Amino acid sequence: MTILHIDASINGDTSASRQLTRSVIEQIKGSNWGEQIVYRDLAANPLPHLTLDAFADTSVLDEFFAADVIVIGAPMYNFTLPTQLKAWIDRIVIAGQTFRYTEKGPEGLAKGKRVIIALARGGFYNEGSPASALEHLESYLRGVFNFIGIEPEFVNAGGVAMGLDEAIAGASKEIELLAA
Ligand SMILES: Cc1cc2nc3c(=O)[nH]c(=O)nc-3n(C[C@H](O)[C@H](O)[C@H](O)COP(=O)(O)O)c2cc1C
Repeated sequence: MTILHIDASINGDTSASRQLTRSVIEQIKGSNWGEQIVYRDLAANPLPHLTLDAFADTSVLDEFFAADVIVIGAPMYNFTLPTQLKAWIDRIVIAGQTFRYTEKGPEGLAKGKRVIIALARGGFYNEGSPASALEHLESYLRGVFNFIGIEPEFVNAGGVAMGLDEAIAGASKEIELLAA
């Protein structure tokens, strides 16, 4: 099994999402040490913004196709995902590769992969809360992975700005429930 581990936080060692992706990997590895883990740090090594020329380089898409499980750290910056992570999404959501248009509408072609996303947000965006209309991180990532045929699993550190330890503890409980 190949696990693709992706981090995007600009916060280095103090990052909540980086802590969570490490825990997710430990949890899903279980007792099976046969996995190959490929690591991509989008903050340390950012992908350039998408250009037409960039479509010629399929290395990011190839890495995605080669992975059985993808673990993504997704911090909320300005109500959505970091641009570093968006640049990665731009390289995997490709017509004819991960989705196609049919007479019945769009069809995802990346079925069968497991995607686990560790969210880290300063505030709370639960349905019905005052800020819920500003939630464009989880909703965007769910939508984009659904579009390519994948139902992502989420673990969530919410309210980091009000207390990092509590937020991490909440997410850690969710991580313990992830299937190995
Ligand atoms: C540039 C920047 C923008 C942020 N914007 C938001 C925001 O719009 N909403 C929010 O709830 N938290 C926001 N935060 C707080 C982060 O979501 C929170 O610190 C989270 O832990 C970030 O993940 P990380 O620790 O892995 O970097 C922002 C933080 C930074 C650094």
